[in-house]
Amino acid sequence: MRYSSLVDRIGGRAVTAWGIHYEAVAAARAGEDVIVLSVGDPDFPTPEPIVEAAVTALRGGDTHYTPLAGYPELRLAIAAAHQESWGQPVGLENVMFTAGTQNALASVAQLVLESGDEVIIPEPMYLTYEASMGLSGAIPVPVPQPASLGLRLDLAALAAAITPRTRAIFFATPNNPTGIVMSRDELSEMARLAIAHDLWVVADEVYAPLTFDVPHLSIAALPGMAERTVTIGSVSKSHAMAGWRAGWAVGPAELITHMTNLNQCTMYGLPGFVQAGTLVAIEQRHAIHESMRSIYRRRRDMMLARLADVPGLKCLTPQAGMFMLVDVTGTGLTPAEFVPRLYRAVGVSVLNAGAFGPSAKDFIRVSFANSDERLAEACDRIARFVG
Ligand SMILES: Cc1ncc(COP(=O)(O)O)c(C=O)c1O
Repeated sequence: MRYSSLVDRIGGRAVTAWGIHYEAVAAARAGEDVIVLSVGDPDFPTPEPIVEAAVTALRGGDTHYTPLAGYPELRLAIAAAHQESWGQPVGLENVMFTAGTQNALASVAQLVLESGDEVIIPEPMYLTYEASMGLSGAIPVPVPQPASLGLRLDLAALAAAITPRTRAIFFATPNNPTGIVMSRDELSEMARLAIAHDLWVVADEVYAPLTFDVPHLSIAALPGMAERTVTIGSVSKSHAMAGWRAGWAVGPAELITHMTNLNQCTMYGLPGFVQAGTLVAIEQRHAIHESMRSIYRRRRDMMLARLADVPGLKCLTPQAGMFMLVDVTGTGLTPAEFVPRLYRAVGVSVLNAGAFGPSAKDFIRVSFANSDERLAEACDRIARFVG
């Protein structure tokens, strides 16, 4: 049978980069002794009060259709948290509850981009961005964050990438896979260009609560940016709730109305019990963020210490999140060779970071969303393999 051209636009790198990962997950399920460090799904359970709230809602009969944009009390809580954390004044009308950051990203892409529009995206970029742009037929224009600049945004290249067809800048801070937090200077330059060229800015801030050393800044709070910025986030990473599919978009009220209309033909609302759990997640965010941050910081430091002396490996210290980039070229292997050989030799799955963009071509991405013991064991195995 014949398919639409959409199937090609959503079937790129994001689909093919996960080969070893899927193999490792299947092997782990089959009881084999493999360590999966190729994904950012927190290894521990969602905090108990959140689970309790969802179960109570379910038992209390919250099994019906829900308002398309999300329960008002949840949207208000998200608005208050956004304002408190990032300093942008927003209300209920600026918030849409979504099925995770991914759903927000794809929805916004469809609402602000036309086929043939150009979208600037700093690379390395999260793997689903390209296909998400493909939904609308927009063309991703990667802008390097080169290793020579410490994987930070090349501001001259950013300015040079803008053409009359540029419609938006999509980016993540903190970044996946680099773990780098954008600086005020970088964000200010991006804001200046967005205002000068009348561009949308979509800021993926899913890792914002998990910064270790430097504070996260929201571009939406910079002068002149509220009307053109959509901030997206979720509780997937910050609250160990990846499977709940609970996130949000915060942006101009008109965009939220359009998102609500889109939701009517895609989701028709999201589960009430998920929203009940998410409300508790937002209410208890201070304590939960602190605890998650300290776990990931401890793991990051432990892995940096254990891999520091392995000859041929060079770790890039992440400022946030749950991933670390490691330059493996000193081993004499490219990442494309290193990843499958590591897995076959010692059963540790990591990703070839080159899949996130050419600037990361020398690196593998290692997740620390696994227990301290397994991470320590994985480091030993990586050292053994390299040795
Ligand atoms: C940068 C980035 N954006 C979005 C997502 C998707 O997150 P969510 O579970 O909220 O859809 C991820 C997940 O790894 C990510 O790394």
